[in-house]
Amino acid sequence: MYGLVRPLLFGLEAERAHAFGLRSLDTLHGLGLSRLLGPRPRPFPTNAFGLTFPNPVGLAAGLDKNGAHVDALFALGFGFVEIGTVTPRPQPGNPQPRLFRLPRYRALINRLGFNNDGVDALVRNVERVRVRGGPLGINIGKNKDTPNESADRDYLHCLERVYPLADYVTVNISSPNTAGLRELQEEQALRRLVGTLREAQERLGAKHGKRVPMLVKIAPDMSDDDVHAAARVLADLQVDGVIATNTTVSRISVQDDPQSRETGGLSGEPLMNKSTAVLRMLRTRMPEAIPLVGVGGILSGADAVKKMAAGASLVQVYTGLVYRGSGLIGECVEAIRRRKEAPSRGNLPNL
Ligand SMILES: Cc1cc2nc3c(=O)[nH]c(=O)nc-3n(C[C@H](O)[C@H](O)[C@H](O)COP(=O)(O)O)c2cc1C
Repeated sequence: MYGLVRPLLFGLEAERAHAFGLRSLDTLHGLGLSRLLGPRPRPFPTNAFGLTFPNPVGLAAGLDKNGAHVDALFALGFGFVEIGTVTPRPQPGNPQPRLFRLPRYRALINRLGFNNDGVDALVRNVERVRVRGGPLGINIGKNKDTPNESADRDYLHCLERVYPLADYVTVNISSPNTAGLRELQEEQALRRLVGTLREAQERLGAKHGKRVPMLVKIAPDMSDDDVHAAARVLADLQVDGVIATNTTVSRISVQDDPQSRETGGLSGEPLMNKSTAVLRMLRTRMPEAIPLVGVGGILSGADAVKKMAAGASLVQVYTGLVYRGSGLIGECVEAIRRRKEAPSRGNLPNL
């Protein structure tokens, strides 16, 4: 089905296709026709951070920034959906065009810049969600005009607003499209910010009588030393999980594409090895009790299996959905199921 729709979507400017695609999904869902897009994956319950996921394949942040399409996205069969990044106040993001396709590489470059309607609008949307097909993650960030010195206030504000509604919260300090944001990943800044948020998480847990796991999402462009330092800080502070990774600013593998000169974060196939290497490094440096989410470049079931082999407990997709459609979700679930069941048959695939 998606094979027929894709040429139509790819005929539109990328951001228009994005909006049109989401509107169409909502319409199909409203008519009860989501199943036209393909069969839903068979359940494959998976536990992580104290939550049960109907399957381990989720939607990565950024596709539904305002949480306005949650019902329709769950209907595609995702085991979890992460909405956001949301900021305290609404902001328009960067001027258009700001989203580019590199079809030869099955990749995207985006410099959206946290365009979103603000956390109050997201909360209103989430309150209207009818059925959660699995855990709902809410990814939080800071406004563009908030200096890093007061970034903790933005993150705290968002954490407090979304805490009662979220099944987990992701602290995004890894987007390349908000100037200086990635500096929050440096050891001292990271310890300060995540330390403050961990205290708030405990306080909010007591206030609301429920513990909402908090994850931190990191970039693929850190040096090995920086990854080791981040792993140390995040383990010390006992975060509930880490998401590896966001998009890359590297263009090494797509240099010959004319679009590669566009500023922004590169996602999709060319990101796979780089983000998996960061995931693997984190897994060797962090206690097993802290689960990792693998994201970056999953375009097939085999890619999802590679993330699990590198230490992921769950995976997420975004760009793969654009190039492969929602059939990718079931393909990943089945490939992960086969890998998990393989050892008992003495038949572990060669990774
Ligand atoms: C258009 C676009 C917008 C994105 N926006 C966000 C965002 O708001 N917050 C975030 O944490 N990640 C964002 N991401 C990053 C994705 O969540 C994901 O980490 C990254 O794209 C790598 O996965 P993929 O190769 O499967 O796309 C965005 C990615 C794309 C392509």
